[in-house]
Amino acid sequence: MSYPYQIKSLEEYRKIYNQSIEHPTKFWSEIGEHFKWHKQWDEVLHWNFKEPKVEWFKGARLNITENCLDRWVETQPDIPAIIWEPNDPTKSSITLTYKELHFKVCQFANVLKNNGAKKGDRICIYMPMVPELVIAVLACARIGAIHSVVFGGFSAQSISDRIQDAQCSMVITADGAFRGNKTIPLKSIIDEALLTCPSIEKVLVLTHTGVPVSMINERDLWWEDEIKKIESQENWYCPAESMDAEDMLFILYTSGSTGKPKGVVHTCAGYMVWANYTFVNVFQYKKGQVHFCTADIGWITGHSYIIYGPLSAGATTLMFEGIPTWPDAGRFWEIVEKHSVNILYTAPTAIRSLMSFGIEPIMGKNLSSIDVLGTVGEPINEEAWHWYNENIGNKKCPIVDTWWQTETGGVLISNLAGITESKPGFATLPLPGIQPVLVDESGKEIKGNEVSGNLCIKYPWPGILRTTYGDHERCRINYFSAYPDLYFTGDGCLRDENGNYRITGRVDDVLNISGHRIGTAELENAINMHTGVVESAIVGYPHDIKGQGIYAYVIFNGMHTDEEHTKQDICQTVAKIIGAIAKPDKIQFVTGLPKTRSGKIMRRILRKIAEGDINNLGDTSTLLDPLIVEEIKSNRQ
Ligand code: PRX
Repeated sequence: MSYPYQIKSLEEYRKIYNQSIEHPTKFWSEIGEHFKWHKQWDEVLHWNFKEPKVEWFKGARLNITENCLDRWVETQPDIPAIIWEPNDPTKSSITLTYKELHFKVCQFANVLKNNGAKKGDRICIYMPMVPELVIAVLACARIGAIHSVVFGGFSAQSISDRIQDAQCSMVITADGAFRGNKTIPLKSIIDEALLTCPSIEKVLVLTHTGVPVSMINERDLWWEDEIKKIESQENWYCPAESMDAEDMLFILYTSGSTGKPKGVVHTCAGYMVWANYTFVNVFQYKKGQVHFCTADIGWITGHSYIIYGPLSAGATTLMFEGIPTWPDAGRFWEIVEKHSVNILYTAPTAIRSLMSFGIEPIMGKNLSSIDVLGTVGEPINEEAWHWYNENIGNKKCPIVDTWWQTETGGVLISNLAGITESKPGFATLPLPGIQPVLVDESGKEIKGNEVSGNLCIKYPWPGILRTTYGDHERCRINYFSAYPDLYFTGDGCLRDENGNYRITGRVDDVLNISGHRIGTAELENAINMHTGVVESAIVGYPHDIKGQGIYAYVIFNGMHTDEEHTKQDICQTVAKIIGAIAKPDKIQFVTGLPKTRSGKIMRRILRKIAEGDINNLGDTSTLLDPLIVEEIKSNRQ
């Protein structure tokens, strides 16, 4: 079964796209009819990009969990909502039907209420990829609390920064997480974070790995004990809080070009409509299919395409706790076969990593259930695209290359599986409602085809970010001030002769490491925390698996007898301050950095050297000390 608003042909795409641009409010009000509301909207869209202010479905009231759960409990209670595959393949998977998930979400929503949580409170979630993570997220949404999920790979310091920024009152966590052959002591990391977080009143702890943890009297409570209190009362049901369309649904932190991550804010109605509409159309989901998005829920991809997109569409969403290469590089394919996965959505970095193991791990695995493949997070190189197409899709499955961002809530540019053409390396065409614009450095629009420039979007779509938490001016400056009346994405882009878009990468000081965004300023701040570091400069360089690797130029104070050891210490410092994902791949000790006379680091030169393009450094005449470049070139790592 398909959805009434699912686009079914290229011709229909063109027609719908034009309608969505010519009559956007009519278009989105018709899409809005397919959701459950407590009260209809008074106005479909109210906006200006100057402040910025964007309000979709203004005046409407709803609860997103009724759209993700209650309406499906009425019509398909026994359809699996979540299939959970554990890290360890010898352990059993778990299936929760819509009825069961609804029950558990209500129950846990009551646990939250019993512990003082209420509408508008910010709740930090730091959990492994287990069904209880989805339950926690939806329980927050049920009572109108704003969730802020922090990826399990972030350090205590990063968690603390995020909790303080949002002034969270509660943390939901677990004793630990499994990740391949490692375990991560989540609760003890939280304990360290909370030393600097006085706003936290309660910590709810799920038992998962069984590792011993310290439980602080009155603050820390076991998930299981709290659930028992609800069970014994037999009052598991929790009515859904009635939310305004523009009430905050969640905060998700992401890196930018300044040192501090920003809390991207999404609101209830617009985000729901966008996550749902893009899920249904991009993947061409058909009722009964199993959708496997391999992202972590700590990132936006997990929010939109493991939780909210699929569940709001009554789909079956598969979540996996582990990693693609443990116990061996056949783990994904084993999962596809075991659960008859129909849609597989992953990142180019995962594809490249699996490619490096050859096709042996795929041999003997039945992948015939796959109908649609997807990629997200970074540009996909053609070699990886063809490998994916030939070995996983057996040359019969469309590959959707979905371009979007934390700030966009859902996919903005992508082919629609089997409906619009794919082109290797190209995200291809904008979704209905999306008006991409390419601009030059001066902000002038570059019209026509076969051109490239900075990618902006002209008009709001329902899933656009509304603010950055606690600092609206930062949101304005970051996204809406570079080019008047346009949302600036930070990406470079080209448009081919047929109007297809190819994203070429960031044009700001943000790196994309294995599909994760990390700002160079944030990395430099972390490296500079090491006692011996005087100054540092970070650039990206092409990395076979990660897409981009982190190259650090470091001025180090004093003698380091053992360079290797010092490098490891610096990596440890970064892991402590940000998390292991941000460890530099290469560190080069330098005696100075190439700077202009006004003291600005010339990153262009450092980037060229890191990329190995040392004979083509461009104009170096403005350098304060040209000799330093020669030193850096000759000691390149
Ligand atoms: O540079 C683009 C890249 O990832 C950035 C967004 O990162 P984040 O907010 O962490 O969200 C990642 C998952 C949506 C973008 O600015 N990016 C994302 N998808 C693609 C991509 N680059 C090229 N092709 C894509 N399909």
